[in-house]
Amino acid sequence: MASTKTETTSATTRLTAGSGRLFSEGTDVTYGDFRDDLIKNGYAVVKGAVPRERALGYADGIYEWLEGFGLGFKRDDPSTIHKDHLPDINEKGMCLGYAVSHESFTWGVRQEAKVIEAFEKVYGTQDLIVSFDSIGVGFPNRKDIQPNKPWPHQDQDPEKPGFRCLQGLVNLLPNGPKDGGLIVCKGAHQLSEQFHEEFKNEEEKIWSWTKEWYGFTEKGLKWLKDHECEWVKIEAEPGDLLLWDSRTPHYNVTSETSQPRFCVYTCFMPVADATKEQLQIKKQAFEQTKMTTHWPNAAMIVDLPVLRNGEPDPSQRSSPREPVKLTERGYKLTGIPYLEQMA
Ligand SMILES: [Fe+2]
Repeated sequence: MASTKTETTSATTRLTAGSGRLFSEGTDVTYGDFRDDLIKNGYAVVKGAVPRERALGYADGIYEWLEGFGLGFKRDDPSTIHKDHLPDINEKGMCLGYAVSHESFTWGVRQEAKVIEAFEKVYGTQDLIVSFDSIGVGFPNRKDIQPNKPWPHQDQDPEKPGFRCLQGLVNLLPNGPKDGGLIVCKGAHQLSEQFHEEFKNEEEKIWSWTKEWYGFTEKGLKWLKDHECEWVKIEAEPGDLLLWDSRTPHYNVTSETSQPRFCVYTCFMPVADATKEQLQIKKQAFEQTKMTTHWPNAAMIVDLPVLRNGEPDPSQRSSPREPVKLTERGYKLTGIPYLEQMA
């Protein structure tokens, strides 16, 4: 599909592997689709990757799931938007417990053909694995949890430059300019290597629990501004797939309207990028319905205690409401068939 190849070397091509992968031919390439935005801006929107009605159906599934905890939440009663009536959802809208990574709506979105297809185009292969990541449940006007402060970051180790991971989310509800959601720093992915070269001896580093994360300090944000990188809040309709390069600085904001924001995080990578050991860990995570963060190679497993008022949450569960249902393609995305071939 790449039509023009005029640049063969670039700082952004380092650590990329395999022909057909985005950035493998440099940045002066035209595809005529969303990949052009990814190269130029570091983010893109694939409109209608999930048909609108089906996306709204997944949102309904999330509402049903929230009501199903029996804690008092009712979708039509805003007074029930309270931590006493909801499962544990942090101020960033992330839900990290209850085996939500393996709920019907989460796997439903991951197995959507056009969502998978977008990642196939980016990586130039159909042999992909998918992350067992979380969902986003953002309600407006919450006074019962701490405010959501911006935490601009990249989800990639500064010492491993180049395009390595494409992150994504499927937006499930109308998401206008003030409805909260993803904010990205346009074009900063291409300056990432230069940035980290200049900031490698930075004194005030923001603590991170993993090397695959870098937080921007005020000085870092000023650098981005001085290099004319603009922060953009992405707007989306139900069913739109939002994609961003892990090097693109980003964070999310809370809705300022009455509109909640629901999304399912979807991140895929070539199975060839995962080691056998990682696929074994991933298999175990699947069988135990655990969460893996956005890294599809199961680089990290999320297995934190879920607390309610400081005590283990009695509503916590280690498996979804129903056993996971997979299509043949969905099963491949777990990596298990590839692992069996390696045996
Ligand atoms: Fe992130």
